[in-house]
Amino acid sequence: MIKKYIPVITIDGPTASGKGTVAQLVASKLGFHYLDSGALYRLVTLSAINNNVQLDNELELVILIKKLNYNFLGKEVYLNGVNVTTLIRNEKVSNNASKIAKFKNIRKELFKIQVKFRKFPGLVADGRDMGTTVFPDAFLKIFLTADIKQRTKRRYKQLMQKGFSVSMSDLLINLIKRDIRDKTRNLSPLKCPEQAHLLNTSKMNINQVVNQILDWYKYKKN
Ligand code: DC
Repeated sequence: MIKKYIPVITIDGPTASGKGTVAQLVASKLGFHYLDSGALYRLVTLSAINNNVQLDNELELVILIKKLNYNFLGKEVYLNGVNVTTLIRNEKVSNNASKIAKFKNIRKELFKIQVKFRKFPGLVADGRDMGTTVFPDAFLKIFLTADIKQRTKRRYKQLMQKGFSVSMSDLLINLIKRDIRDKTRNLSPLKCPEQAHLLNTSKMNINQVVNQILDWYKYKKN
């Protein structure tokens, strides 16, 4: 039987580069499935916190992943039937998610889950290593960046809208620390994949970014 090719668009980039919002909109415009890979790392982190599993205990964390009862429903994320969409975005989960992401066996387990999101008619996947490791044969690869001040402001706005109170200076420090951890880890570090379109979104609004990606997609398809 000939296996049919399922197109994937990968959108990688650092925290608060806008990739989540952009990826969801691109997926909905194309009628594609959507994978928020960062949410998986966040779900494992939250589940570990809830179950008193140490965040440096790789083996226990892997056991947790094997039992992870999660669900994505539109923009909502559920853990054991509880809506955790907002909870997984708090600073504690964010910082620890980037710490557990260094473990080989955690990445291996989550890899198995991530590749299953590739279904007809296509997939838009956002994260750190979508274009380099999880979907190296992606049809289109995008790498989003934005300057650190802009990203801190965006993150601040997001968190305030969700009702979290945070200080801009703390956020900036957390962002810098997470960038360093994500870029310097040994396994699948955050980096621009080969052949990716690099897009600096500092001075762009969401619609401009989405339209640019859709243009690249249509151009490549025709
Ligand atoms: O995209 P995000 O901010 O929700 O991701 C949270 C953390 O998860 C991020 O700091 C590092 C980790 N992550 C990863 O290592 N690989 C991915 N593909 C996605 C996220």
